Amino acid sequence: MTRSLLSAADLDRDEATALLDAAVRMHAVQSREVKKLPPLRGRTIVNLFFEDSTRTRSSFEIAGKWLSADVINVSAKGSSVSKGESLRDTALTVAAMGVDLLVVRHGSSGAVQRVASWVACPVVNAGDGTHEHPTQALLDAYTLRGRLGELADRHVAIVGDIAHSRVARSNVLLLQTLGARVTLVAPPTLLPAGVGGWPCETDWDLDATLSGKAHGDVDAVMMLRVQRERMTGGYFPTEREYAAGYGLSPQRLDLLDEDVPVLHPGPMNRGLEISSAAADGPRSVVLEQVQAGVAVRMAVLYRMLAGAAEGAA
Ligand code: ASP
Ligand code: CP
Repeated sequence: MTRSLLSAADLDRDEATALLDAAVRMHAVQSREVKKLPPLRGRTIVNLFFEDSTRTRSSFEIAGKWLSADVINVSAKGSSVSKGESLRDTALTVAAMGVDLLVVRHGSSGAVQRVASWVACPVVNAGDGTHEHPTQALLDAYTLRGRLGELADRHVAIVGDIAHSRVARSNVLLLQTLGARVTLVAPPTLLPAGVGGWPCETDWDLDATLSGKAHGDVDAVMMLRVQRERMTGGYFPTEREYAAGYGLSPQRLDLLDEDVPVLHPGPMNRGLEISSAAADGPRSVVLEQVQAGVAVRMAVLYRMLAGAAEGAA
């Protein structure tokens, strides 16, 4: 396993598969009465979050605790960042306390890589700007594998605000590594510059994609949040028009076979990119994704901290 996990591209097919297999074993802990395994006893993990999170931060915390690590949360709000302390000084200060692994989320693309270059311990990227969110891609792959089996030659449509989505980029990279095919669907204004060089197809027509007319049958659909907090201009005329063109409405669900899973990384804007019928319906695997988040993060922490020592031994 790589020393730090900064990008989905850090994982080759063998490593990604090994992580997903380990996550299957970790998942069993979730249904046990006593949810505690010993391998990370005596290890200290810090969640260093400069941007808000519900799922990622709490699942890393639960994952660390179920593996018996001590997990400490440090967020920008309430830290000395508000007194003007720099990212470098904050990271070095936290790391100097004898931390074994840092989990870092930051609003700027590339910031987590910078942190990894400054500190001596391994770093996991929990989302940096519009760049990457590799453990999200792993939990999505885990969820997809649970529904579809092996992902080679499977076709996944990723729909919505691709331009501002670190989830989309990490998913495209990991799904390609696992042999799947991806079609990105968005209005032209929400496709990132340079997407032509990404290993996937693109389209503006959601109905043609979901019906299979444009790119062949779709095996899974991943809806992405419209990331208003990252938008500086007008990317679409009105929310109503966005929902009409790109929202997963009850009518659009009918274009999909009954066994096509619908994913969303969360948080969801209900009524905008996804209808409640899609979010809560039988195709939805949104809460399975959340469950997978704990198992996958246990696997990542285990392989980065205990796995290396085990290998050496
Ligand atoms: N929670 C995911 C992220 O932090 C997706 C989103 O916010 O829309 O990237
Ligand atoms: N999917 C995801 O990263 O959610 P949070 O922003 O709540 O962590």
